[in-house]
Amino acid sequence: MSHFGGVDPRLEGKLAVVTGGSRGIGRAIAAGLHAEGARVLLASRKLASAVAAAEELGEGAEGVACDVSTASDVERLFARAQAHGGADVLVCAAGIASTSPAAQTPAEELDAMLSVHLHGAVSAAQAAYPQMREKGEGSVLMVTSVWGLGGQPGSLAYGSAKAALAHAVKVMAIEWARYGIRVNGLAPGLVDTEMTAVMDDAVRAKLLSRVPMRRAATPEEMVGPALMLTSALGSYLTGQTLVVDGGERAR
Ligand SMILES: NC(=O)c1ccc[n+]([C@@H]2O[C@H](COP(=O)([O-])OP(=O)(O)OC[C@H]3O[C@@H](n4cnc5c(N)ncnc54)[C@H](OP(=O)(O)O)[C@@H]3O)[C@@H](O)[C@H]2O)c1
Repeated sequence: MSHFGGVDPRLEGKLAVVTGGSRGIGRAIAAGLHAEGARVLLASRKLASAVAAAEELGEGAEGVACDVSTASDVERLFARAQAHGGADVLVCAAGIASTSPAAQTPAEELDAMLSVHLHGAVSAAQAAYPQMREKGEGSVLMVTSVWGLGGQPGSLAYGSAKAALAHAVKVMAIEWARYGIRVNGLAPGLVDTEMTAVMDDAVRAKLLSRVPMRRAATPEEMVGPALMLTSALGSYLTGQTLVVDGGERAR
């Protein structure tokens, strides 16, 4: 008996592709999808990390090397997905951070952020699209950031790329809804991962002082929202970006 008003949130028989699946938020979401019955392809640049993360999940999980900013890697990842019957769910969590004052942000930093966070995520969605269209259904989840929703000093390159991705979510959602493909965003606030472990203590304290819950999230706290957006629980949800930030943007 379902606890969700008759809606079955399980993902039995579905294939989920998760970029950035080797650690942090992507790995936690991949584990959550796997726990709900999905087979998962975990992708990251380093094959060994992706394979190790997949082995930890066990049967039905596979690690694949893929740099999302390299077109041939993305093509190979989705060829693998096709060999497994095609992607039903795509989660784009691959990402790197950067920070520079706006006046000194080099063009290379802007290019690097756009390459991974915008081009990488969009090209993965474009590669998933024919597979989902063939099935007549699918769900894409883009991990954006609260820093792409409001201005944060130092985040010109990173935040602009995430803001562009949040826009791409809306356009894909509108164009693909007729084919049963939903596209949503998940915008985390501060999450404790390798990406944020390098943050200066004073910067961290300042960021947390604006968070009503006064703490960072664990990667596992992104799992429930991601499951809601990607499973049948979110069957009428598309074109939205869900903010999961301990209340920061409620101010
Ligand atoms: N942590 C936060 O506070 C926070 C907040 C808001 C949004 N986010 C976003 O959430 C996502 C995950 O971040 P995280 O904190 O979990 O970071 P993380 O722990 O550093 O993990 C990043 C993941 O992305 C992979 N990756 C990086 N560049 C890649 C590329 N070009 N192609 C394929 N995979 C790549 C990494 O593996 P390899 O190094 O092996 O490639 C790793 O699996 C990112 O998009 C990030 O911008 C994070």
